[in-house]
Amino acid sequence: MYHDEFRRSIDQPEAFWAEQAKRIPWFTPPTTILEYDEANHARWFVDGELNICHAALDHHVEQGRGDQPAIYWDSPVTDSKRTITFAEMRDQVARFAGALRDLGVEKGDRVVIYMPMVPEALVAMYACARLGAIHSVVFGGFAPHELAVRIEDAEPKVVIAASCGVEGDRVLPYKPIIDAAIEQSRYKPEACVILQREQHAAELGMAIDHDWSALVERAAPAECVPVKGSDPLYILYTSGTTGKPKGVVRDTGGYAVALAYSMETIYDVAPGEVFFSASDVGWVVGHSYIVYAPLLRGATTLVYEGKPVKTPDAGAFWRLISEYRVTSFFTAPTAFRAIKKEDPDAKLMAQYDISCLKALFLAGERLDPPTFHWLDDLLTVPVIDHWWQTETGWPIAANLHGLEPMPTKAGSATVPVPGFDVQILDREGEPSGAMEQGSVVIKQPLPPGCLAGVWRDPQRFHSAYMAAFPGYYLTGDGGYFDEDGYLFIMGRTDDVINIAGHRLSTGEMEEVVGAHPAVAECAVIGIHDALKGQLPVGLVIPKDGFEGDELTLENELIGLVREKIGPIACFKQVLVVDRLPKTRSGKILRKLLRNIADGQEFGVPSTIDDPASLQDVHEAMKERSVGAAEEARQV
Ligand code: COA
Ligand code: AMP
Repeated sequence: MYHDEFRRSIDQPEAFWAEQAKRIPWFTPPTTILEYDEANHARWFVDGELNICHAALDHHVEQGRGDQPAIYWDSPVTDSKRTITFAEMRDQVARFAGALRDLGVEKGDRVVIYMPMVPEALVAMYACARLGAIHSVVFGGFAPHELAVRIEDAEPKVVIAASCGVEGDRVLPYKPIIDAAIEQSRYKPEACVILQREQHAAELGMAIDHDWSALVERAAPAECVPVKGSDPLYILYTSGTTGKPKGVVRDTGGYAVALAYSMETIYDVAPGEVFFSASDVGWVVGHSYIVYAPLLRGATTLVYEGKPVKTPDAGAFWRLISEYRVTSFFTAPTAFRAIKKEDPDAKLMAQYDISCLKALFLAGERLDPPTFHWLDDLLTVPVIDHWWQTETGWPIAANLHGLEPMPTKAGSATVPVPGFDVQILDREGEPSGAMEQGSVVIKQPLPPGCLAGVWRDPQRFHSAYMAAFPGYYLTGDGGYFDEDGYLFIMGRTDDVINIAGHRLSTGEMEEVVGAHPAVAECAVIGIHDALKGQLPVGLVIPKDGFEGDELTLENELIGLVREKIGPIACFKQVLVVDRLPKTRSGKILRKLLRNIADGQEFGVPSTIDDPASLQDVHEAMKERSVGAAEEARQV
């Protein structure tokens, strides 16, 4: 079954996706299924007309789901819970869309959203979609500078934020972050809408500030504006290899079709069931599987403002599954590593009836075999690793639970999802055989739902994804197929690192560290961490004549990355060194540094300029207990 469906999706993509498009209530069904633009990139459903807000809300109300919960909100950090039905959600969204329209927001305008995990974040996103405006949600753990970069690039007419986020027992005021970001940005939005939360009232002192409730009170509901299938729904910035994040542009029609298809074939979710994705609206998983896909499917989405542990304990997920009768649960492996650390025998799980759960899905980083086995032994339901990225918007490889479940293999995301012609190429662009590791690429055309471009930067779209192997999309991951056609994703081949399922750029951290006046040269590498998967470590050479205190410099650099990128970068280790191992052409040997920090065997490459530098760095890492450097051995 899987194999037939996969083959059809690759051999007859137009016929296959024309069929899948019937899952969506279009205003005008598409007649052109697949088209190529002037740069030869696939465009799906260009002449179809729809509105994703209509498909996810109004349509279900019209079909009799008005009284069904659309959102369960559970926030242990504020001790609050709320249920919002499909009819209530449609009405709230329509009113807030009316408020945005009153502020001048129209089809094609951009709106930046900086909000914690509250239902209003979803209201704001759907309200933009209702008007045909393009939202760009920025994760709350990013600092003002990161927000400023996104504001400057997206040029939003309006910024929407909450007065605060709540991280464990800490209340984090957001307004100062917004004000600082707008101050730093050369582009200035026309309005800033603030949702006042009980935990902290923001001062609305700027001329552009508006109070969410006051705006909504005055607003009349707005109807859904029809958009074309290829019109953009959102821009989501993601870390690239440089300091400037990439604005991944998602279209509307292809995305809606892909999500609807995935809810049945991958997640096996039926209308009326409860889907829980423990991510954040600021990440792609949040966009796809908290906000849009569950509601498109007529399912209820559980929005959780809390952590896997400490809010209040490592039983939080089990409680949520039990209390809301969750049927499909999705999180990152790191969340379970945190739970396992606190409750190794999962004693807290026994307190809850989780018999409603049909499957557990994990993504965001590699599902390491020990975590897989811990979960597989613990649960009676399938534990499904699936692989995807911000750019694709939905899974590239998975065990297709709703189509044909397959035996799992620890460490593998199983098989390519229909629509994704995944191949492994070697450096020369030649196909690799089974068990041979190489670059994981996707043969064009990318299926519906994948990125339509990089916001206002077609050149970067081409150079980052399409140039390396003409005819193929470069995923940036390395991996291989085994003899049974199972795909193993082994990690990034570029400067992107994965910290607790969050994607960050070491290149960007290097730019921040390198800008410190006392720093002559630096390298930031991602090293293995048992809890978060990877953590960044900075190695820094001070400028000649530097006479300051090394520890002070290290702390300043840690503070700088926190201030410029944000706490989510988890940049907490810096070593001042005299020299860095480089090739004779001056390239820092980062892979070698990573191997040493990870305690692996390492040789001295023939291309190295100054072999003694390697020993110096190794000694420094050992002394400061960086990663497992102590175990590293020169061979
Ligand atoms: N707003 C502001 N700050 C935030 C934030 C947010 N939304 N999210 C995280 N932060 C801050 C944290 O408070 C922490 O700051 P600190 O250095 O002052 O302590 C820092 O960013 C790092 O956060 P995090 O990586 O979440 O670490 P943690 O120690 O608080 O929690 C885990 C560890 C494993 C529990 C947590 O990383 C987790 O839940 N991971 C799952 C990730 C996930 O779901 N990813 C989704 C991708 S599918
Ligand atoms: P993001 O764009 O933030 O979703 O990060 C995408 C990156 O996370 C991918 O390119 C992979 O490196 C990694 N990733 C996500 N899911 C998996 C998975 N199931 N297995 C291995 N790596 C994964």
